[in-house]
Amino acid sequence: PTEAEAGARRLSFTPIEPSQLDDIIVPENYESRVLIRWGDPVLPTAPTFQPNRQTPEAQEQQFGYNCDFVGYFPLDSDRRALLCVNHEYTSGEDMFKNYSPGVNRKQAEVEIAAHGGSVVEIQRAGSIWSVVKSDRYNRRITGDTPMVITGPAAGEPLMKTSADPTGTRVLGMLNNCAGGKTPWGTWLTCEENFNQYFANNGLAADPAIKAAHARYGVSSGPTGRRWEAFYDRFDVVKEPNEPFRFGWVVEIDPYDPTFVPRKRTALGRAKHEAATTAIAKDGRVAVYTGDDQQFDYVYKFVSKNKYDPANRAANFDLLDEGVLYVAKLHDDNTGEWIPLTIDNPLLKDKFSSQGEILIKTRLAADAVGATAMDRPEDCQPNPVNGRVYLTMTNNSARSNIVADSGSALANPRVPNLNGHIIELTEQKNDHAATAFKWEIFLLCGNPEIDLKTDPDSLTPGLPSSATFFAGYADATKLGKIASPDNIAFCSKGHLWIATDGQPNSADIGNPNDALHVVPTVGRDRGYLRQFLSGPKGSEVCGPEFSDDERTLFCAIQHPGEGGGIPNTVSTWPDRRELPRPAVIAVRREDGKDIGL
Ligand code: FEO
Ligand code: CA
Ligand code: CA
Ligand code: CA
Repeated sequence: PTEAEAGARRLSFTPIEPSQLDDIIVPENYESRVLIRWGDPVLPTAPTFQPNRQTPEAQEQQFGYNCDFVGYFPLDSDRRALLCVNHEYTSGEDMFKNYSPGVNRKQAEVEIAAHGGSVVEIQRAGSIWSVVKSDRYNRRITGDTPMVITGPAAGEPLMKTSADPTGTRVLGMLNNCAGGKTPWGTWLTCEENFNQYFANNGLAADPAIKAAHARYGVSSGPTGRRWEAFYDRFDVVKEPNEPFRFGWVVEIDPYDPTFVPRKRTALGRAKHEAATTAIAKDGRVAVYTGDDQQFDYVYKFVSKNKYDPANRAANFDLLDEGVLYVAKLHDDNTGEWIPLTIDNPLLKDKFSSQGEILIKTRLAADAVGATAMDRPEDCQPNPVNGRVYLTMTNNSARSNIVADSGSALANPRVPNLNGHIIELTEQKNDHAATAFKWEIFLLCGNPEIDLKTDPDSLTPGLPSSATFFAGYADATKLGKIASPDNIAFCSKGHLWIATDGQPNSADIGNPNDALHVVPTVGRDRGYLRQFLSGPKGSEVCGPEFSDDERTLFCAIQHPGEGGGIPNTVSTWPDRRELPRPAVIAVRREDGKDIGL
């Protein structure tokens, strides 16, 4: 649709109030159902879930823990699809009656099997989606699944280990948070906080390796899960290079259950939240990705070769060759994409090869003066206006605007407890451009405290309670939001925003995490409303629409997780002692488009 047509498709649901209840809340005339939970069968051979007698063999065939990214991949009708879901991490205390990390080997094996991802075939009968117990597509990928390393860093000396002297083969993917879908129908799944699986960097022998691991937060001592007690590869003293083989974007073909996942090193190594694609004017592929850490960076990869819509197979190695850029945002609302290439004069004396630059992406970005952001999480191109939206989830450590960042205006609050969203416009609206303009789209928080409506008022050093909703002026109509994380667009240009951290925001009354929606075009631009609330202690992830936009899938991650916040005990969804992360499907009772 054009901007005018999209702007005319106005949201019309009745917004919900923020909630602290231990349940899913949706607007009136909507319904939500659990589609699949931790422990439910994925493979047809999967045994029944027995939480207190869980085995690695069972978990390898069942839905994993802490579902995060959700990707909808259509099959032959609007009633059949594949759902690809990430399993980000495990919480042993919430999974086992007597959790004994470093002592109980079986529990470590269950945890490794509960990581990774799931591919499940789903079907819809009327308004109800269910999982198909079929072995045609259904697949579990775990922390132990054989994968290949591709692109410029494959085979680098830093990628070699005693188990893999070629530096091209690795077992498993870990901490896969969000992701994306390619135009050729593959799943991009992103390794985020991989550092938390590797121990003893304090004892690493090589100072350069130790410094590189430290920049990514690898622990100087033991890990929380203590897998290093059973597996040498999780101990930096024994296998110093193993952490370099994590922190990548992994590409998987969900339509081929025999496909060997590929870690695409050309996209850089970071704590990737998501990886979202857009086609440039000349047909090359751009992939946007953030690095979720306080004061880390936003990246863009542009492929060397062009996307071929007529030949699916021809696109499978597009993400192995191209240029990785990092973003620098200037205070005059312009910005540039700086190439992280071995011929960049700022890098060529510091790194020995393109592969080393990619393995140490953060250090290369440090060296070129990239802009330090407030925890860059998801990023998403808008199908209506072509702009790219970047969520900065929050940054409690930002204290001095000038010293902390190359740009004071792009991250203007000190501290930034409620997060913000930046709207980036590529030069000539071309995703291969190396220059862009940017503006603040939202400063999240409680609009009733200090709502700014003039963009010129967004000066450096604002308090965290100052808010901005794209200039929308009526604070009484606006919802309250904090810690934006995963985002999705519907075809009408409405931005759907899931949160991770609202219980920490006193400004908005410490409600449960939620799903909000805000129009980006038309007269309702900035008019944010709450659509869904998650149960206690949970984070709302996904979100993802079916292709007809009549079902909205969300991953409800870590219900009942304490995180130091009182009153997070949950029994969702089974109303038994053990809460279970699960994917839900939300529909309108009349089956029509979500939100309208
Ligand atoms: Fe796993 Fe950046 O959230
Ligand atoms: Ca998460
Ligand atoms: Ca996330
Ligand atoms: Ca998060």
